[in-house]
Amino acid sequence: MDGEKNRKKKSKRVGFLGRLLSRLPSNQPLLYPLYLAAQLDTVMEEYASPRVPQAFDGLTIAFLSDIHYGALFKEDRVRSLVQRVNDLQADVVLLGGDYGENSDGAVAFFQLNPGFQAKIAVLAALGNHDRTLPDENYGKLRKAMFEAGVIRVSNGAYMLERDGQKLAFASTDDYFNGQPDLERVAKLCRPADFTVFFPHNPDILPLTYQLPGGPFYQLALCGHTHGGQVALFGRSIKYSSQTGRRYLSGWFHENGVDIRVSNGVGTSGIPVRLGARPQIHLITLKKAQ
Ligand SMILES: [Fe+2]
Repeated sequence: MDGEKNRKKKSKRVGFLGRLLSRLPSNQPLLYPLYLAAQLDTVMEEYASPRVPQAFDGLTIAFLSDIHYGALFKEDRVRSLVQRVNDLQADVVLLGGDYGENSDGAVAFFQLNPGFQAKIAVLAALGNHDRTLPDENYGKLRKAMFEAGVIRVSNGAYMLERDGQKLAFASTDDYFNGQPDLERVAKLCRPADFTVFFPHNPDILPLTYQLPGGPFYQLALCGHTHGGQVALFGRSIKYSSQTGRRYLSGWFHENGVDIRVSNGVGTSGIPVRLGARPQIHLITLKKAQ
């Protein structure tokens, strides 16, 4: 599935305005957009469905996306974020991509050895910012993730098995800047009783509806949109999604799958938010009768 006509593989950097704003205090409610961008909510959610296998009833997933480490999200915030996540003591930590503002930043993020902890595994997808040029950064990124104890899930699936039931966590390479292989991921996940698909960008989801056999997952967890980052009444000044507002933020149900799109943690370009609070999620899977 390469050669998508809208793919953009440019390396993004924080511009003058972003750097200037990042020097202003972020702890003053009067400077509300800067203040909001420095907040972080932990959203506790229960995902109840008859399709959750009994063996995985109660499994907890800490999900976070779009950290954008760098000039706008410095190391002290990374350390405090990781502490927040680790305090949740989740079974699985899912990282949804966009670790830096570009691939240099993504490599630098994992070289910090951030120290995410989970009872079972820390799994990570790749975002469009992580897959910017130069290509040699991809090798560096894979190495830095491995050395940080993070399992990269890119065109792959991480399978858990309990009492003969299988639960898969799957992701593709990034939709915009990588080489996503949905057919391969679908084949890996079909034997699972339940699949959590966590591609960075929800724009890839409609493509899964066209696969032979339909979507290969029941629950999708995505980031990328930042909830619009600066949004009022559900409308943003700039959409990062090719589908506009379709997956801006929140829960969606379509084509038999449930979708959660996170506002994400950090910011892109400028360190401001409006109408889209930074968030991480603790999602508990529940077997509904
Ligand atoms: Fe992002």
